[in-house]
Amino acid sequence: MALFSREREEPNILNGKIPRHIAVIMDGNGRWAKQRLMPRVFGHKKGVDSLREVITACKDWGVQYLTVFAFSSENWRRPADEVTFLMGLFLQVLQSEVERMCRNNIQLKIIGNRSHFSTELLAMIADAEEKTAANTGLVLTIAADYGGHWDIVQATQQLLKAQPELISSFSEADIQPYLAMAYAPDPDLFIRTGGEQRISNFLLWQLAYTELYFTDLPWPDFGRTPLNDAIAWFQGRERRFGRISEQLDSAK
Ligand code: IPE
Ligand code: IPE
Ligand code: MG
Repeated sequence: MALFSREREEPNILNGKIPRHIAVIMDGNGRWAKQRLMPRVFGHKKGVDSLREVITACKDWGVQYLTVFAFSSENWRRPADEVTFLMGLFLQVLQSEVERMCRNNIQLKIIGNRSHFSTELLAMIADAEEKTAANTGLVLTIAADYGGHWDIVQATQQLLKAQPELISSFSEADIQPYLAMAYAPDPDLFIRTGGEQRISNFLLWQLAYTELYFTDLPWPDFGRTPLNDAIAWFQGRERRFGRISEQLDSAK
């Protein structure tokens, strides 16, 4: 009898290199619900369960950073009732999950342009970040009202405010410390669920050399086994960063 019985045999990813940082676009909630003749928001609610499962798997497998796209700077364009629901869900999840995060030694970070959030949500974000700040395990980043364009602009603004003398000449390395994810290495693996093959203004700067994985599974159907599949796929990639294969072999 197998020690752990699973629905099907999973590739043993623990023999290979586990990505240090995984970034996820959790897409397909609305279509998942529509298929079941349910309102779109039902899919968002179900998506919270998938996120919990993915967080646990990342923790179990030694992923150090997990970054998820919860609400894009363009998602304000959605119908007002869906936006209101999503903001309410965000608040509710922060409220209900902080204790669990502390128990699991998870450090929570929220990135994005917070200027359109309610004072209640802002206070909850500050509280959740503060309560988990000293945790040393998985760093979970939730991107909310985040846009890659916004990030590059705000970083440049901060840089020029701090070092105005750089106006006529600054480098990539000068901008980097001001980007929203300056505290983390760039993602190794990007996953988008829901079938679309686009970046939708997610971490534009940071995804420059990330391995991109797309799956048709809608986010509410995603979880531990599909994540295992994505990591197994990642382990089969050769990351060359501009070099050629032979150079990588000789560096081994
Ligand atoms: C992703 O699912 C969640 C958010 C953008 C908040 P969608 O709501 O985009 O679901 P689909 O893509 O319409 O199915
Ligand atoms: C991207 O999903 C944003 C999030 C998952 C939060 P969307 O469903 O909004 O992306 P587009 O607009 O279809 O590209
Ligand atoms: Mg979508």
